[in-house]
Amino acid sequence: MATTENLNIDEIDKKYNLRPFVEATPSDTAAEVIQLNSLDLSLFQEGPDFLDQRKKLATQLEESLSTVGFFALVNHGISQDTFDQLRSVAQSTFELPDQEKKKYLSGALTSDTEDRSVSLGAERGAGFKPKGYWSMKNGVKDSIELYNFRDLQQREVYDSSKPYPEIVKAHLPNVVSYFRFIHGNILKKLTILCDIILELPEGYLWENYFKVVDGDSYNSGSGFGRFMIYHALNPEDEAKVDNNWLRGHSDGTAFTFITSQPILSLQIRDYYTGDWKYVGHTPNGLIVNIGDALEFITGAYFKSSIHRVVTPPDDQKNFKRLVIIYFCDPKLPSILDPEPLNSPKLKRLGYRKHDEWERITFQQWDEEKGRLFGRSDVNDAKSDEPNLVLLYGRLHERWHQAEHNFSLEEARKKYKVIENKS
Ligand SMILES: [Fe+2]
Repeated sequence: MATTENLNIDEIDKKYNLRPFVEATPSDTAAEVIQLNSLDLSLFQEGPDFLDQRKKLATQLEESLSTVGFFALVNHGISQDTFDQLRSVAQSTFELPDQEKKKYLSGALTSDTEDRSVSLGAERGAGFKPKGYWSMKNGVKDSIELYNFRDLQQREVYDSSKPYPEIVKAHLPNVVSYFRFIHGNILKKLTILCDIILELPEGYLWENYFKVVDGDSYNSGSGFGRFMIYHALNPEDEAKVDNNWLRGHSDGTAFTFITSQPILSLQIRDYYTGDWKYVGHTPNGLIVNIGDALEFITGAYFKSSIHRVVTPPDDQKNFKRLVIIYFCDPKLPSILDPEPLNSPKLKRLGYRKHDEWERITFQQWDEEKGRLFGRSDVNDAKSDEPNLVLLYGRLHERWHQAEHNFSLEEARKKYKVIENKS
C-alpha cells in the first residue's frame, strides 16, 4: 500500500474503508450461561457521604472476585460511540494486506522461534501477532490475529514517533484515551472497592500498585491494549483441538477488561466443579476478570479463573468475534504476596503466602509466564489442560485449585511438569 502524506482523517478513513463493525445477532442455542454480577459503576461516588454506597458495591464485587473472578461492568463512562469507533478502526487494521502487517509485527512469526531475550513476544509486544504464532494441541496452529499497544500510560513513551500503520496512527489519540480512561478512572474506582473489601484505607492499592508515575515506567502501574479478532479454524483442525479456538488459560495481569460481544464463545472454567460455562453478552458492557497478579497479592482470595474461547454456535458462525482488551498490570517491583498488604480481612480469613511460593516481583512473573502461552512443549498435552509449569514454586495456571488433596508431589507423578530454573 502506497504511503501517502497529507491526507486528512476523512481521506484516511475512506482509504481504509472505515465502516461500522457488524456485531453478531444473538444465538438461539440453549447454552448454560454463567450469571456474572453486573456492577453499576455510576453508583460509585467519592466522599464520606457515599461511603455506604461504595460499601454496597464492594460487597457485590467481593462476591465475584472471591468465587469466579469475573464480573460485568456497566455505566462505566465509556459511550457506545467510542466502542463503535474503536471496533471500526480495529476492523480496518485487521484488513490491511499481509505485507503491510509484516512491517509492524510484534516479534517472530511463531512462538517457538521467538528470541525472548530481545522480544516480549506476540503476547505482549507492540504490533501484530500473525495467525499461526501459537502451537495448540495435536500440531494445530491458532487462527487468531491481534494488534497490541504498549506504553500507553506514559505520556513521553507511546507517542507518535513509534511506527504505527497509517489507519492506527490516524486514530491513535482516541485509542490512547480509551485505554487511559480504563486505567485512570475505571481501574482506580475498582481498586478503591478492593481496598474496602480488604479493609485497607481507600486509595491504598492505587497508591502502592497501580498509580501512574509519569516518566518512571518501572515504578508505575501500567498495562497494554489490544485489538483481537478470531478467524474460523478449518473443520479438521477444529476437531483436533476439541473446538478450542484459544485454549484455557489464566491471565498474568491484575485486571483484564474485555469489550462484551454477542458471540457465544468465551467460557469460564468453574473454580469449584471444573465445568465450562459460557459468558453471556452485556450490551455496551465490559467483562472484567482478575489475573494471577491480584490472585497472588491477595493470597488467592481473589480468583484468577481459567477461561477459553471455543467455536461459536452454527447460527453465529458467519460473524467475526472482535474484542478490544486492556490488560492492567501492577508496577513491576510489586511483590506478589499478601504480606505487604497487611490486610486485616485476609489475615482473619487465613489467606497468606503459600509456603512453597518464592518471593517474586510482578516483573519476574510477567516475564516467565509471558513466554509460555503458545510454546509447543507446554501445549503438547492430551487433555484440555496444558502441561503443568512450575514458576518460582507457583503453578503457571492453576487448574486444580479446588482439589483439596492436590499436591505438587502427586502432580509430578501424574502430569508432565516443566520446572523453571530460578
Ligand atoms: Fe485471557
